[in-house]
Amino acid sequence: MTATPGQPLWHGRFGSGPADELLAFTVSLPFDQRLAADDLTCSRAHVRGLARAGILSAEEADAVLAALGVVEDELTSGAFAFAPSDEDIHTAVERRVTELAGPAGAKLHTGRSRNDQVATDLRLFAKRELAVVARRILDLQQALLDVAGEHPDVYLPGYTHLQRAQPVLLAHHLLAHGWALARDVDRLCDTVRRLDVSPLGAGALAGSSLPLDPEFTAVELGFANAFDNSLDAVSDRDFVAEALFALALVGVHLSRLGEEIILWTTEEFGFLRLADEYATGSSMLPQKKNPDIAELARGKSGRLIGNLTGLLATLKGLPLAYNRDLQEDKEPFFDSLDQVVLALSALTGLMGTATFVTPRMQEAADSPTSAATDLAEYLVTHGVPFREAHAIVGALVRESAETGSSLAELVENHGDLGIEALHLLGEGVAVARRTTRGGAGPGPYGAQLTRFVARLTEDRRRIDRLLGE
Ligand code: ARG
Repeated sequence: MTATPGQPLWHGRFGSGPADELLAFTVSLPFDQRLAADDLTCSRAHVRGLARAGILSAEEADAVLAALGVVEDELTSGAFAFAPSDEDIHTAVERRVTELAGPAGAKLHTGRSRNDQVATDLRLFAKRELAVVARRILDLQQALLDVAGEHPDVYLPGYTHLQRAQPVLLAHHLLAHGWALARDVDRLCDTVRRLDVSPLGAGALAGSSLPLDPEFTAVELGFANAFDNSLDAVSDRDFVAEALFALALVGVHLSRLGEEIILWTTEEFGFLRLADEYATGSSMLPQKKNPDIAELARGKSGRLIGNLTGLLATLKGLPLAYNRDLQEDKEPFFDSLDQVVLALSALTGLMGTATFVTPRMQEAADSPTSAATDLAEYLVTHGVPFREAHAIVGALVRESAETGSSLAELVENHGDLGIEALHLLGEGVAVARRTTRGGAGPGPYGAQLTRFVARLTEDRRRIDRLLGE
């Protein structure tokens, strides 16, 4: 019996059609249309598998593949007419293929369920889209690297507890964000590696009595492996949860970068000026120039975390195998992908166009107390135990704060420090003295830069390979 337009796929078992309220509540077409291209890819591989198994004749397979081609054209041009009974994209495609290819089309769903189909579509989608996100991350890393390259010698205060601590190179500070993003790229690649398994052939939950070959379709679809367990294949959404975690963590990293942009653009810091195109004004306060991109990067991280925790809550009580709850995987996934891509592009633009107010940064970093640790380490090199050295310098800083005498004067007059230690308070001296591997000074920065550029180049190659370029 061939499904006719307007009837659900399961009409044989049912005496009457679905209630409007059921359709309104259960349809996923408005959002899962986004899987259309991957659904067609999945169906093409399935048709080739059916032909190979002798379930479709060569002519029937050609007819179905031709119908799938028409469906693709109609979907791309916008000519595809959805029917009210099209519950999801899979239903819509199958209905149209059956209209176009007749009885051969009605064989398309042989040995297949929407359960293995949707899992396959979503994995195909995730493989590509996570790589696209990774590419956007690389663009932001490049923007950070470019800014670093434009200001190779500039330094600013490094902070702990948001209190000035020790000077660091601006380039070093920017690459700190760059390395966090490098881990994000790695995490996304890792997620893709683990999700690279084809669920097609698992059927509704238990495989098939027909001579289908899941390994054949896995190869056709470009997956590294076929599933090992049909129940797991249709109910596993670990890859969506992992992707949502990876995206949420990207969001957290962008939020932290955003927070610094917000701080740095305040009048109080004054380290950064945004380009007009990447700032917003106030409807009431004429003088305002607001860092809305940075604020939304910070704000949207909450939503990204929510998408992750929401899906985990959906998954936690589900018995094997497929349950309709799993349809709830798509909207948070699509949303997190979209929001992260938008945030990455906006921040990349912001970074590439902002002005770094370097004199202001250096002036803040050259406050004499920035060299306090260097004074203590000077005493250490003259045999004073560090705890004692710490106390000596601490007392000088206190005296300077309380009496108003300059630290330089107190250092010069101190018996263990004196004129020899005075040069440590000079402009830019403290940052130059950060010489150990991975440290914030120009010496180790050169080696760090080389490693960062090598990592970026290798990551670009990885992503190109994932995207088949
Ligand atoms: N729209 C469904 C989803 O996204 C497709 C699978 C439906 N399967 C079913 N047995 N009702 O999960």
